[in-house]
Amino acid sequence: MPLDLKALVRTIPDYPKKGILFRDITTLIEHPEGFKESIERIASQYRGQGITHVAGIEARGFIFGAGVAIALGVGFIPIRKKGKLPGETIGQNYALEYGVDTIEIHADVLDGDDKVLLVDDLIATGGTAIAAVGLLRRTGATVEDAAFVIDLPDLGGADKLKAERVVVSALIA
Ligand code: PRP
Ligand code: ADE
Repeated sequence: MPLDLKALVRTIPDYPKKGILFRDITTLIEHPEGFKESIERIASQYRGQGITHVAGIEARGFIFGAGVAIALGVGFIPIRKKGKLPGETIGQNYALEYGVDTIEIHADVLDGDDKVLLVDDLIATGGTAIAAVGLLRRTGATVEDAAFVIDLPDLGGADKLKAERVVVSALIA
């Protein structure tokens, strides 16, 4: 019987701002089987598809993205918030449900031979994921797939990402 992953995610109202229903994945990753099953359910969808790298978005995307990369036997690319990577970077601004930010990757990390799976904990408005896909594609790499633990469909992000020719999966909607 598969675990009820949704039941392991805690919802905290009015964080970080009034009106936001914050989906807290710390309760999921504290649960050993819940964490392991989340990683395995994501990875199982992408085996044998020629994925060369998993890219995860700071910070919560690192937790799941790193696990999925290990499970698939491929390298992990950290997509970091501005100013954190030591080498030459390329960056992309984006709007969040509760603010604005910039993400960056190393300029030399990918090329046209690479096929990247984007992984993050959650998609809400889609601003972060669309910026990440745009950034990864600027390297010449192929990005056709994005996997999330949680989709908040009322915020429309998954539909916007699909319109960018990305196949979107989520464990919890
Ligand atoms: C959260 C979440 C996603 C993003 C989703 O990250 O982890 O990356 O918001 O929102 P969107 O679909 O509206 O763009 P956040 O920027 O809060 O950073 P964190 O992972 O460091 O907490
Ligand atoms: N990132 C953007 N919106 C979020 C939400 N409602 N809960 C958790 N993380 C988020």
